[in-house]
Order: sequence, then C-alpha cells, then structure tokens
Amino acid sequence: MKGIKWVVEDSVEKEVWWPSEELKRRAWVNDPSIYEEADKDPVAFWEARAREGLEWFKSWDKAYEEDLPYYKWFIGGKINASYNAVDRHVKAGKGNKPAIIWVPEPPEEPSRVITYQQLKDEVCRFANVLKKLGVKKGDRVGIYLPLIPEVHIAILACTRIGAVHSVVFSAFSGESLRVRLEDAEAKVLITADGYYRRGKIVNLKANADEGIKDTKVEKIVVVKRAGNEVNMVEGRDFWWHELMKDAAPHCDPEPMDSEDMMFLLYTSGTTGRPKGVIHTTGGYLTQAYWTTRWVFDIHDDDIYWCTSDIGWITGHTYLCYGPLLNCATLILYEGSPDYPQIDRWWEIIEKYKVTIFYTAPTAIRMFVRAGDEWPKKHDLSTLRLLGTVGEPIDRETWLWYFNNIGGGRCPITDTWWQTETGGTLMMSLPGIGPFMPTVSGRPFPGTRNAIVDEEGNPSPQGGYLVLVPPMPPGMLRGLYKADDKYRETYWSRYPKRYYFTGDGARDVINEHAPHIKEKGKIKHFIRVTGRVDDVMKVAGHRLSTAELEDAFNRHPAVTETAVVPQPDPMKGEVPVAYVVLKSGYRGSEELSKELVEHISKTVGPIAKPKQIFFVDELPKTRSGKIMRRILKALLTKDKIGDTSTLVNPDVVENLKKIVGYPD
Ligand code: WT7
Repeated sequence: MKGIKWVVEDSVEKEVWWPSEELKRRAWVNDPSIYEEADKDPVAFWEARAREGLEWFKSWDKAYEEDLPYYKWFIGGKINASYNAVDRHVKAGKGNKPAIIWVPEPPEEPSRVITYQQLKDEVCRFANVLKKLGVKKGDRVGIYLPLIPEVHIAILACTRIGAVHSVVFSAFSGESLRVRLEDAEAKVLITADGYYRRGKIVNLKANADEGIKDTKVEKIVVVKRAGNEVNMVEGRDFWWHELMKDAAPHCDPEPMDSEDMMFLLYTSGTTGRPKGVIHTTGGYLTQAYWTTRWVFDIHDDDIYWCTSDIGWITGHTYLCYGPLLNCATLILYEGSPDYPQIDRWWEIIEKYKVTIFYTAPTAIRMFVRAGDEWPKKHDLSTLRLLGTVGEPIDRETWLWYFNNIGGGRCPITDTWWQTETGGTLMMSLPGIGPFMPTVSGRPFPGTRNAIVDEEGNPSPQGGYLVLVPPMPPGMLRGLYKADDKYRETYWSRYPKRYYFTGDGARDVINEHAPHIKEKGKIKHFIRVTGRVDDVMKVAGHRLSTAELEDAFNRHPAVTETAVVPQPDPMKGEVPVAYVVLKSGYRGSEELSKELVEHISKTVGPIAKPKQIFFVDELPKTRSGKIMRRILKALLTKDKIGDTSTLVNPDVVENLKKIVGYPD
C-alpha cells in the first residue's frame, strides 16, 4: 500500500488528515452518511450487523430490551464464540489460512504458524480436556498465561463448552491473581511453567502456586513453555501436553444463550478490590466483529498486529476474538519491545510484513525517546493503518507515530473505550476520517455519547463523557457479585439516563476545526482528556488509588496512605504515595525501598510508586475525606487553593516542605 497520498487540510492547525481516494475505495466503510443512518435506529443497525457478521444457531426473539441500569441484546438467540472464531472459517474453506503467527522472544527461536484448521483442532482437544477435568457450562476458569498460542486455545476452549474465562495478566503478582481467582470462584487454573521477558525466564508457576492459596482452585494445567524447574503437585497439577495427548480433536460447540456470561475480566475501580466486569455472548461478539472489521479495516490479505497483553480487554477483543471472528492473520509476540534491542517491534513488522498495527501511547513514547534511527533501520512500508488506545495521546507522540512509523501515509485511529465497553466506541474510521492529533473522533455507528455537566446538561466545551442509551451491544452487563457497585459506579450520577464513563472530554469541533463539519458531516469531534475519578492510567494500565492504598496499608509499618497520580512524560501518569507510619517506625530510604517492593509483589511491578513521602498527617475534610486535590497540586506545583474546609490546614505547610513545594 505504498504511495497513498494524504489530503492535508489547510486548517487552523494544519493538522487534519483525510483519507485519500485510494484509501476510501478500499475501506469497508467510506460514506459518512452511515453515522446518520445508524443513529436513526441503533437497534435495527446492530440487528443487521449481528445477522450479517455472525452465524447463529438460533435467531433472537427480541433485539434489545432495557430496564436501566440493565439491558439485554439478541434475547433468545443462540450462538457460540469459538464456533464463530474458528469453525466457520474452516467450513468456508479457509482452514489453511494462518490464524496466529507466534513470535517467541528469544530471537533465535523459530516462530510458529497456526492455521485455522490447527487452531480448531487444538481448541476442541483442550475443550475435551477441560470437560475431563470436570469443567461445566457456567464454571469459571482462571487463565494466567503469557503470550503464547495456548492462551488463545485455552480461551476458545472455554467458550466452546460455555465455561466463563477469567484471564489474569501474567505480570500480575500471585496475590493479585489470588484475589481475582477467589472472587470468580474458579475451579481450574491454566498457567505455564514460565516465559521469556527481556531474555530472562519468569517463573510463572511459582506465582500461580501463590495465587491459588485459599481459593477454590482444585486443578492446575501447566503449559511447558520455558522448561524451567517447577513444583508439580501430584493429583492437582497436570502438564498441558500430557492431557492433550489423548484428547479428541472434535468437540461440539455449546449453543449459548446470547445473554449467557461469556467472560469475566477484573479491572480497577474506585475501591480497593478489583471488580469482575461481566461480558455476555451475542452482543459482545457482534461488537467485537464489526469494530475490528471497520476500525482496522481488515481484509483477507492483511497481517494484523495488536501489541496488547491478553490480560487486558484490548487483548481479549483485538488480539483474540475480533481478528479471529474476521478470519484474520494475527501476530502474537511473546516478549518485550526492547529485546534484544529497542527495534524488535520494527523488525517484526518488517519480517512479517505487518499491515495493521495497534499499540499504546506509552509504548510509542518510549520509542520517541529512543530516537528516530531505530525505525529507520527497517522497511515499514507494508503498514497501511495505525491505531492507538489506552490513554490520551499527546500531539508530539501522535506526530512521531504518524511520520516515523506510518511514513506519513497511514491513518491513525485513536480508539477510545474501556474494559466495560467490550469494544471500542469512539474513533475516526479509516475510510472516513478525519484524523487529528489528540482527538479521538466520534461514536462508532449505532452508538451515542455526550459531554455533560454535573446536572446532565450538554457541556461540549468540557465535561463528563457519558454513553447515551440504547447501550452498545458489547457493554458490560454488570459487576460480578456486585450489583451495588455497578449501580453506584456507572449509573448513580445520571440514574436511568446515562452511563458515566469516568472520563472527561471536550468537543473540539467549534474551537479547532469548524471547517471539517460540512466536509465530514460531523456534529461532534471529541477529545478525551482523561479520568475524572480516582482511577489512574499508568503506562496505559488501569490502577485505582484505592487499590494501591489498600496494599500499602497492609504493610505492618503503615497506618494510612494516600496515593495520587503525578503526570509523567513517559508513562502518562505515575503513582506517588503519602504514607503515615505507625508509631515505632521511622521513614527511611530502606523502608521506602521495602514499600516499593511490597507494592510490586502484592499488586504487580506496573504499580510501583515513583516516590514515597513519609508524612505525619494527611490533609482531611471534616468528614474525614482525604483531600487528594491538594496532594496532587503539591506534586504538580499548581496552586493549592482553598484549604479552609480542612480540619487540619496546618499540615499543608508541613507537606509543602516535604515535597519541596516552591514558596
Ligand atoms: C480508560 C479505560 C480500552 C482498552 C484499554 C484501556 C482511557 C482508553 C483512550 C483513548 C484517551 C483513553 C480512558 C478510559 N482511554 N482509550 N483513545 N484516549 N483515553 O481500558 O484499562 O478499562 O481503561 O482508558 O480513561 O476510561 P481500561
């Protein structure tokens, strides 16, 4: 796809790109009237999509029903995720098409290609293994695997038999795994002996052993990946390859009700414990299929690569279900982007002729810092489309990505969404555009959003981003065993009216690009500015301040903690902690190190605080609420503002000294 010419708009910022005629011609969707069309009747729009994109064992009786905060899609429909992801393509004669190209981290280790036929056989075998281990429809299965093909096989085997998978990020600690397994009441865990990370072997099984303590897990299946020494308990732990030896490559897919739970994915909310986000079957699959198809404009000859870990929703929807439902060929890379050198990703793009590339701003920032010379060493001309996700992308990073990776010819689709939304909900479509740095775009056809103030009135110049019913089909159906939390988190601000995203946003169409209105038939063009609640985005990973505080407070030396995000040029945000120690303890460099280690172990290395301040007291309101606004301002050196509502305004002076706040 060389030689695509961009139509560069002579705009205020001179930074508005439109797709070329060539790009438009190739794209699945290229007519902006689709937005208006879909908006006339979103339910009818999605119904048509569900029918066209997926194979149902039985059609639905009713497409949509809502009694907010709950809603249902394709009621009475019967469908199976793994059947749609693999069998359908094999039946259509695509059995020999590569589904997964697996690239191991050690550069000398050969890659592995798995065709759709092979994937189907392996999925069936493992589905039979799960059955033999006693897993039944509706049972929860924990998956704690690195990026190896077995993760796709395990996931699809679960959905094949109607078991609910709950995937936990392999870099999470044993303790983080434990909390999730406990809540999900998983009976079986699938893990690996180890995996490669920056040339070293991580002993995953040791974490898994930690992780099952005090849970209902009775059996562990272990993939032999790294060959490291592991502890296997007779009767409890089984090797994957041994179980698979005599498993049959045939297993009928379980016809699932459209609204049956398909998977759980734990994410950080505003409380100490992660919440199990519930996704159901028919609606999720419909949104996964169509957003992947239209946003990444996937065609038969594409080589598609999403760099997310499978432990995040991006991994579920755009590294597994979305591309497989579309019969795409996907790249699955096991390791670190900078191993053996900082150009490993560019090397992979060149070697496998990747055409579509989807990654996170935090990764791009790392490459910006490493320098332009690294991508220049490689031929990246096969790329035709770029994507970004996870946090707001700044202008410099966007432009670097556009010019140095996209060669100035690939659109960047800035996809906004959340674990809760199941699939992306806001972006510019590649055949429609336009593409502007820092601007995500408009709602995906058939979905609605708005920017509102506290009362729910339109506030396009800046406000809360909300979703407007009917709710998109892939949206969460609740929080596992936490109905109260679900209502409170998403539906208490605008009851029965809007879903609250927790993000702030601004409509930039009137201030920045009024001239694009006409041309693109655009009403709103949205920039997401970041979280407005106590959720942080650290290198794109979602962490709650409460979760970290909870972890700190479990350390024997700590009484109380306040964690706040500090802006960071690389990671977007980093956690900083203000810690009050128990009497008898004194703040020291050693204790600081120990606490960082403690967080790394209990929550995971991504949560490591950037800095710890030992303080005597935290600034609190009369009702005992910690004033985080002040703690943030101390870090950013912003104005402290009004402290009169504090019970202890004096502590602010003290804190100023501790953090080095300018007088
Ligand atoms: C939060 C959701 C969606 C998959 C990965 C993250 C932020 C996500 C964007 C974007 C600005 C973004 C929001 C959102 N976010 N995408 N394109 N521009 N912010 O899923 O961990 O559930 O986090 O990530 O703050 O609410 P998640």
